[in-house]
Amino acid sequence: MYKLFFQLVFKRMDPEQAHYLAFRWIRLAARIPVLRTFVAAALAPRHKELRTEALGLRMHGPFGLAAGFDKNAVAVDGMTMLGFDHIEIGTVTGEPQPGNPKKRLFRLVQDRALINRMGFNNEGSAAVAERLAARKAVFRTTVGVNIGKTKVVPEEEATADYVKSAERLARYADYLVVNVSSPNTPGLRNLQATESLRPLLTAVREAADRSVDGRRVPLLVKIAPDLADEDIDAVADLAVELGLDGIIATNTTIAREGLGLQSDPALVQETGGLSGAPLKERSLEVLRRLYARVGDDITLVGVGGIENAEDAWQRILAGATLVQGYSAFIYEGPFWMRAMHKGLAARLNNSPYATLAEAVGADVRKKAAA
Ligand SMILES: Cc1cc2nc3c(=O)[nH]c(=O)nc-3n(C[C@H](O)[C@H](O)[C@H](O)COP(=O)(O)O)c2cc1C
Repeated sequence: MYKLFFQLVFKRMDPEQAHYLAFRWIRLAARIPVLRTFVAAALAPRHKELRTEALGLRMHGPFGLAAGFDKNAVAVDGMTMLGFDHIEIGTVTGEPQPGNPKKRLFRLVQDRALINRMGFNNEGSAAVAERLAARKAVFRTTVGVNIGKTKVVPEEEATADYVKSAERLARYADYLVVNVSSPNTPGLRNLQATESLRPLLTAVREAADRSVDGRRVPLLVKIAPDLADEDIDAVADLAVELGLDGIIATNTTIAREGLGLQSDPALVQETGGLSGAPLKERSLEVLRRLYARVGDDITLVGVGGIENAEDAWQRILAGATLVQGYSAFIYEGPFWMRAMHKGLAARLNNSPYATLAEAVGADVRKKAAA
């Protein structure tokens, strides 16, 4: 039914307009008690066997909403109502900013992909902190807060901008993510180099510790799929060295070649980050490499091109304790999480593993033992 609706309505609309329209409906539904209870019961049935413990947090399952969908934390309950097991809000920057000029979001329908150059349009760390402080949660969930650099802040002053966000937001975060991998803020991805990343992560860690009493907020870093293999290893080693809690792999890609893209070449050449199905293989490869390097020392979050339960299951076997999605939600619609959970529970029940935790990284460990 959603597919028909997508063809008839959303596909004819500007993608960003469609996003805001759907978003408004979701938020509205979540505000009406009877409706939200009904929707959550229909779309978010919980499966006991999928209960997940990660980053010291208990979750209903492993599948979360990737960053970028709810940049300003306005729809945490709405997205929980649709079945996501955790919600990563952001990217939030130190200061508010409008993002890049429109049009900045493109659908590559044939490729089940998106290209975006949103450029961190968001209300800024002070406004989002205020919203989170005032939030009265309707559904229990896990809220991750993803932070990034304000565009006008020069690269040399990036750390202070991240620290500002961390100081304002860490207390509301179940986990905090340092995003150094979006392609749409000039120079941002240079921060993935270990010389820059080490002082940045150290400063954000200290800021989080300073501003939150009685709890250590888990800190993760989100990386690009375009890193060379040596650089992935370097980030993994740095994460272990610094006692980081997790790595999220991956953000969108700037690559276009070799992905078998079928869409109109003019669309394919739009500047920005590509997400969705064509990213699947590379994201999985990066995840496997990370798990081979860090094993169970660090929590890995698999994201990029996950479309169905089989994709999610493959990420878990490759080392992901948590998985996330964004683009497939646009194409699959509100029943996506329901199908995902059902399929994942079936895979676990038909596998040799008693729990999801046992399955994490099993393929990589098997390969290493062979
Ligand atoms: C329109 C759009 C906006 C995004 N914005 C952000 C963002 O602000 N911060 C971030 O870390 N990732 C952002 N992402 C990347 C996603 O979180 C995710 O890493 C990527 O899309 C790969 O997952 P997918 O193939 O399931 O979409 C964005 C993706 C899309 C499509």
